[in-house]
Amino acid sequence: MAHDAATKIWGTGFYVPPTVVTNDDLAKRFDTSDEWIQQRSGIKERRYSTAEDTPAAMGEKAARKAIEDAGLEVSDIDTIIVASLSPDHDFPGVACFVQHRLGLPGTACIDIRNQCTGLLYSLATADAFIRVGQAKHVLVIGTEVHSTGLDFSNEGRDVTVLFGDGAAAMVVGPTDDPKRGFLTHCLRADGSGAKQLWIPAPGSSYFPHRAPKSMYEDRSMYPQMNGRAVFKFACTKLPEIIGEALAKTGYGQDDIDVLVPHQANMRINEMVAKQLGFPQDKVVHNIQKYGNTTAASVGIAFHEAKQDGRIQEGSLVMLAAFGSGFTWAASLVRI
Ligand code: UT7
Repeated sequence: MAHDAATKIWGTGFYVPPTVVTNDDLAKRFDTSDEWIQQRSGIKERRYSTAEDTPAAMGEKAARKAIEDAGLEVSDIDTIIVASLSPDHDFPGVACFVQHRLGLPGTACIDIRNQCTGLLYSLATADAFIRVGQAKHVLVIGTEVHSTGLDFSNEGRDVTVLFGDGAAAMVVGPTDDPKRGFLTHCLRADGSGAKQLWIPAPGSSYFPHRAPKSMYEDRSMYPQMNGRAVFKFACTKLPEIIGEALAKTGYGQDDIDVLVPHQANMRINEMVAKQLGFPQDKVVHNIQKYGNTTAASVGIAFHEAKQDGRIQEGSLVMLAAFGSGFTWAASLVRI
């Protein structure tokens, strides 16, 4: 039965693997420095997974925390949506592996790609499912293992220093309180920028074999990024999409209590806040500790801001993200 009220965030959680990798650690593997990385991105350290911390395994750990935070039992979950650009396997999707780990046979499982914007696309999907009565308690997860797919040579250093591993989870469900929950989602993409940030191989566009041997020599199995183009794109599109979410809901910038942006580069987020005239102390930054955890980043930042009291019941929170695709999105939510 369709639910005519709203969808709120019932609980959140995250998990990052225990291994801390500092900028100095990376400087031992290729030509870089703590100073360069911090100056350009704000990152001081990131986490790298071990063999047992696969995307599904980390997703499960984050999920159990979010379910507990929501005051629910695992068995209350009826739908699982997982966003990841680094799935455990080509197929099936990560959601099926998480579902099996949680022991929830029969629940609907959906995988969403959309890279750094994946969590926001997943939340919008969950919200729509709940509003039409297709689902009640949706587990939304963003989870990434980047560390096993990075280029640790000088050629890959621009990308490699930015990324870290981790998982975030949110449980969303219906609320009868008309003042709470998601107020809008703005989802955008522009595929003309698809090759500005991507991993070309392996893939089914290669013939006759999807895993060409050449991918080892030409390094097409590693992420490729036009850093400057991505930087410019983010600084243009984030203020635009935040403005769009405000215009759609009739709120002003001053009404926002906390901005939780995707953690790709602290300089980008500082610049976006400056462009919007938004106070820096209302912007959540945790990239120093985790680097860019892609689909997990907004969820981890949201949870930490909740833990330190910046996000409270009643807070008006803007979530915003951009990334490979290009994709970009914003969601406005009353906690
Ligand atoms: O979720 C989306 C993820 N991606 C992003 O958000 C990335 C957005 N872009 C960026 O954050 C920046 O473009 C970077 C941080 C990636 C790079 O900063 P930049 O100021 O655009 O540097 P650059 O690529 O223009 O490179 C400047 C110099 C170059 O040397 P030369 O040609 O001036 O001699 C690079 O070779 O820095 C060099 N460089 C490095 N040096 C030390 C590139 N990577 C590194 C490195 N350590 N890791």
